[in-house]
Amino acid sequence: MFSRLSNLLIWSVTLFLASNSMGSLSVEEAVQKRIKMFKSSQTNIKELSKFIRSGDINASSYLVDFHVRWSEEMLLVFPAGSEASTSNGSDASSDIWRDTTGFKKQVAQYNLSSIALREALKSKNIIEINETFEGLVESCKSCHKQFRN
Ligand code: HEC
Repeated sequence: MFSRLSNLLIWSVTLFLASNSMGSLSVEEAVQKRIKMFKSSQTNIKELSKFIRSGDINASSYLVDFHVRWSEEMLLVFPAGSEASTSNGSDASSDIWRDTTGFKKQVAQYNLSSIALREALKSKNIIEINETFEGLVESCKSCHKQFRN
């Protein structure tokens, strides 16, 4: 189970990085890529919650690395002109480009939250692990509230 999941995640992260290094993404590609990454992120959070409850620190740490990485790359897939339209299947609010500073703050909070959970997993302190996991989930919700239609 774990190795199948890892392969899936490694594949999606590799795909993401590989296409970036091939040059800048078109607006349409960026929209498709971010939707795919957000879907993986959702699946990841569900698995992470299970692994944390079962006390599997190694599997949890592996899954958290996805969030650290994705939070570092996220801004690349929000190019100008990629907000939700009737044809592109996106739910991205135009506020992302109206309030760039606010959006960057949310991305930074997501990054800090994922790093905090990674550190808590190293400490193996259950209370800290649970609190920082809640913080990570909160960083998703907080950004959605402000920047997702
Ligand atoms: C900095 C802002 C931000 C953060 C942090 C964030 N999201 Fe999102 N999320 C968005 C935006 C914007 C969209 C809409 C993207 C689009 O449709 O173009 C979205 C879309 C989604 C979607 C819908 C994808 C689809 O099927 O269309 C899911 C699921 C999702 N996010 C999960 C998460 C999870 C889980 C986290 C936290 C681990 C998270 N997001 C963190 C901004 C964020």
